Amino acid sequence: MGYHQAFPDAEIVGVDITPQPHYPFEFVQADALEYVAGHGAEFDFIHASPPCQGYSRMRHLPWLKGREYPLLISPVRELLKATGRPWVIENVADSPLNGALLCGAALGLPLVRHRRFESNVLLLFPPCPGHPVLFRGRANMRKYGQGAGVTGLMDGQDPKEAMGIDWMTGRELRQAIPPAYTEFIGRQLAAMGIFA
Ligand SMILES: C[S@@+](CC[C@H](N)C(=O)[O-])C[C@H]1O[C@@H](n2cnc3c(N)ncnc32)[C@H](O)[C@@H]1O
Repeated sequence: MGYHQAFPDAEIVGVDITPQPHYPFEFVQADALEYVAGHGAEFDFIHASPPCQGYSRMRHLPWLKGREYPLLISPVRELLKATGRPWVIENVADSPLNGALLCGAALGLPLVRHRRFESNVLLLFPPCPGHPVLFRGRANMRKYGQGAGVTGLMDGQDPKEAMGIDWMTGRELRQAIPPAYTEFIGRQLAAMGIFA
């Protein structure tokens, strides 16, 4: 959605291995690695958000310990490089991405949600302004259900409002990033003439 906001005329295609019934643009259900290998070079720009659970510090929580998660950053990076196109990979702050952090608070959002971005394009991010730890999952989950598990909400905050996403379920929301992040990146791509 953020790229659409930056480039309203762009044709956007989303790829996921599981159905995404609320995805607001053209959707292809496929293995994204196979899709990038076969079709990546046909696109002006590619954004990848591989599963983050295997990289997140949350994986050490007692009730998540021992679970196995796919670690796709490395193969995704190699496939993206092979396309020769501009690309961005997004993941959690703890992930082994070679890139800067973006924080909602740095973009003026009422949300502390650190995400790391690696790209073969020069992207500049404002520094995190600093903030108290705001994760208050339990209180919010009582009020808003699953979606309130979104990290970085303040007590009583509506997760959909804070993220700027009203088309997803709570479970989907927990895996998403605010469109403001990708719009911010999209506007830099526009300034560089990528996606013009
Ligand atoms: C961090 S979530 C991103 C969700 C969504 N793109 C968003 O930003 O709201 C990671 C997604 O990767 C999907 N996934 C996992 N393995 C995949 C694969 N091999 N090919 C395509 N999608 C995959 C999961 O189903 C999950 O929806």
